Amino acid sequence: MPGQKRVCVIGAGPSGITAAKNLLDQQLEVVVYDYGKEVGGNWVFSETSSHSSVFETTHIISSKALSQYDDFPMPADYPDYPSHQQLAAYFQNYARHFNLYEHIQFETLVEKCERDAECKWKITTRKNGLSKTETFDALAVCNGHHWKPRYPEYPGTFTGTLMHSHDVKRFQVFSGKRILVIGGGNSACDVAVESCRVSASTDISWRRGYWVVPKFIFGKASDTVGGLLQYLPSFIWRKATGLMIKVIQGRNSSYGLPEPEDDFGFHHPTLNSELFYFIRHGKIRPRGDIDRYDGNKVYFKDGSTGEYDVIVACTGYYISHPFFDPTFIDYSQGDVPLYLRMLHPQIDNLYFIGLFQPLGCIWPGAELQSKIMAKELAGKWKRPSNTAEKATHEVRHPDFNQVKTPRHTITVNYHAFRRRLLKELARAAS
Ligand SMILES: Cc1cc2nc3c(=O)[nH]c(=O)nc-3n(C[C@H](O)[C@H](O)[C@H](O)COP(=O)(O)OP(=O)(O)OC[C@H]3O[C@@H](n4cnc5c(N)ncnc54)[C@H](O)[C@@H]3O)c2cc1C
Ligand SMILES: NC(=O)c1ccc[n+]([C@@H]2O[C@H](COP(=O)([O-])OP(=O)(O)OC[C@H]3O[C@@H](n4cnc5c(N)ncnc54)[C@H](OP(=O)(O)O)[C@@H]3O)[C@@H](O)[C@H]2O)c1
Repeated sequence: MPGQKRVCVIGAGPSGITAAKNLLDQQLEVVVYDYGKEVGGNWVFSETSSHSSVFETTHIISSKALSQYDDFPMPADYPDYPSHQQLAAYFQNYARHFNLYEHIQFETLVEKCERDAECKWKITTRKNGLSKTETFDALAVCNGHHWKPRYPEYPGTFTGTLMHSHDVKRFQVFSGKRILVIGGGNSACDVAVESCRVSASTDISWRRGYWVVPKFIFGKASDTVGGLLQYLPSFIWRKATGLMIKVIQGRNSSYGLPEPEDDFGFHHPTLNSELFYFIRHGKIRPRGDIDRYDGNKVYFKDGSTGEYDVIVACTGYYISHPFFDPTFIDYSQGDVPLYLRMLHPQIDNLYFIGLFQPLGCIWPGAELQSKIMAKELAGKWKRPSNTAEKATHEVRHPDFNQVKTPRHTITVNYHAFRRRLLKELARAAS
């Protein structure tokens, strides 16, 4: 259609497909590039190292009730916490249902994104060794933020196998081995639990205390119970949630783990119902922070030592946008000043979709961000004139005051964030 705006979407994961769907709903022209072979991003399991960080037994931690697009509910027969196979099927069915496949160019790597003199986007891609540059009116970045591994650094050298959770695919390779898992997030606790079923021994090293939430509370998926408390003032909700967790499963110290140093919400939540169970069955041994390596020996800060065949660093991911000049955009550390976690303060034809870490699920929020983006590009919604100021305000007033570690730069409260996005959408013309 002449005069129709052309939008480039990077990525056909959960965020990219909802970006494409909502842009198409507004009659915009859409080209999606993805270097994978299928829709689903992180949820497309691969036997070898790839974009995906899921392993053979991964099930989601955000429950089905809070993990569906408003426009496309999950199948009624899905369980509370679907598997990665069910998730991939769900995203692929979404893409089929909304006829997105014809707009996606697979096995196409976005290499470079830069603006020309007219502020249009020049997008350079590579497919089958061939490079191509196309021009777009707007760019939606949906490349995910859980694929570039962050490794910890300690003095000394470890001579066993050191790997990152990103590359854990199947657990049989740990059979009969002595495993040390580093971290207290969802990867670390999932990996420790799966590893201990086959390993000779599994230790888990935490550098601080974390809240570990069981996947079910009172017979309900935990985030749905948490959702009932969402309208309470934040400090009461955090205290109440912490108290509920302690009443249900006791203190961390009962399991040999450090206590959380602050109220619930001070770190991204870890959901796991089996960690404590296996610790108390003697299958997982808690360890403190690491001091140094020496050969296959690890020295811990409390003076104890352990010998290991494999260390799995479950120490999180860098936010990475390798297609931008780093002097232009580099969110790999420090603040990420984007209004509504999506709007660049200066550049009005650049959108980030899904670049937030909710206490809950990412893609329902990505869906609402996509609707706002699409409405703006269709001329039905206008960003505030003080977007830069609002982006700074958002950074200075996060939904949660969290421990200042690299994984906590883009946190939002799932429910409050959704309310903010819905409020903006309510301002849009239909
Ligand atoms: C093990 C694990 C479990 C998780 N569980 C949950 C959960 O329970 N709930 C939840 O909400 N979140 C969870 N997450 C977070 C996860 O980030 C989201 O589930 C979701 O995958 C985010 O979707 P996305 O589309 O933003 O990113 P991704 O799923 O990462 O998709 C990004 C897409 O962009 C493509 N791409 C990237 N760079 C380029 C490029 N340069 N050129 C072309 N294509 C590119 C990739 O191929 C990929 O298809 C989990 C993460 C991990 C690692
Ligand atoms: N089943 C699932 O659905 C599932 C499974 C895995 C992951 N996920 C999701 O995937 C995302 C990434 O999770 P993740 O667990 O891989 O990463 P993460 O949430 O970033 O957690 C990393 C963990 O490693 C610790 N850590 C980081 N650097 C360290 C260092 N140098 N030394 C010691 N410890 C260090 C962190 O401690 P600090 O607290 O100090 O930062 C934290 O405990 C999250 O959104 C998570 O919910 C979901």
